[in-house]
Amino acid sequence: MITACALAFVSLASGFQESPKSGSLKEAARNRFKVGVALATDKLTDRQYTSLVIRHFNSVTPENSLKPSSMLVSPGVYNFTESDKFVAFANSRRLEITGHTLVWHEQSPSFLYQDASGNPLSRTVALSNMRNHIHAVVGRYKGKVKGWDVVNEAVADSGGMRQTPAYRAIGPDYVLKAFEYAAEADPNAELYYNDYNIELNYKRPSALNLITSLRTGGAKLTAIGIQGHYNLSSSLNEIKGGIQQYINNGYNIMISELDVDVLPSSGNPYTAGLPSTIQNSLTQWYGNFFTYVATTPQIKRVTFWGLTDGNSWLNNWPISGRTNHPLLFDRNYRPKPAYNEVIRVLGTSSTPIP
Ligand code: G3I
Repeated sequence: MITACALAFVSLASGFQESPKSGSLKEAARNRFKVGVALATDKLTDRQYTSLVIRHFNSVTPENSLKPSSMLVSPGVYNFTESDKFVAFANSRRLEITGHTLVWHEQSPSFLYQDASGNPLSRTVALSNMRNHIHAVVGRYKGKVKGWDVVNEAVADSGGMRQTPAYRAIGPDYVLKAFEYAAEADPNAELYYNDYNIELNYKRPSALNLITSLRTGGAKLTAIGIQGHYNLSSSLNEIKGGIQQYINNGYNIMISELDVDVLPSSGNPYTAGLPSTIQNSLTQWYGNFFTYVATTPQIKRVTFWGLTDGNSWLNNWPISGRTNHPLLFDRNYRPKPAYNEVIRVLGTSSTPIP
């Protein structure tokens, strides 16, 4: 009894609530949308990590282990050790998998689209390399992966198409070809175009052009992946307005990499924890966002980009070695006030449940 009281005191004083004995994110979402999380394969032997995953999520994305450079060691030579571990873990727990990602300008071996001097390969050779890679990976996990982020981040921040190695070698239809090859390799897989900030005004017109060209070209495009790397100043009105334009064009949406950066552009001020003002802003931000998600039936999944604050890429970007707090679980795997707020708004939302 004394111990329980003491624990309750500590948790209130630190602004955290103990994990409720029952309930979870996926239960709170009911069948309105899937709740996903990006996982690091090297954490899959950590019981505290995996039990939190299994309790709260019904969808998982490998944070790195299905990216081309994580598997493709040298031309035509693959090491599937990590990706196989990830897929086996998720399949055995009936967690839906989003395969991330088949074509991206980062974390991809240069030999796919460039020669040894860095010049673009011929279109024919580059297309063949892309097709072989997509068939090798999608074919291996056919029936095991629910959907693929086929192409990631093809739109440039300055507008138009990003001038990637694949673009330079193949031309603008490389995106369409990637979708064609993915559909060939697993006709039953869902296929997504995934990108950041394409709901925002500065990038949306270029993304809509690309997506329209995919539709015109006959691509199977199941949904648009909106990454959702936000910060406390991100305007929910702009986000909602932008997503609505995709919905108006007939697309479903996956929020594919959600997190909320709480750090200023320089410095590392919250190493000892978040001040209550920032904690409250984060809580409110998440509450407002999930109120919107719960009332938007075209949003089919929300995936967090990392399980706990300690696992987030935002501890190392744009400055490495900082202490960020962008997720719903803290470094000790405890739910933060933002978690409780998300559960609350999902419980009170009046959206009809399909
Ligand atoms: O695995 C090596 C390790 O062997 C080495 O000792 C260590 C030293 O730096 O690096 C490790 O690789 C790191 C890898 O993550 C695995 O932890 C890379 O340096 C690091 O660059 C890489 O960062 C990943 C990043 O994509 C690469 O661009 C992040 O974990 C991952 O969260 C991030 O995810 C991307 C999405 O795929 C696409 N959207 C944006 C998102 C955030 O950048």
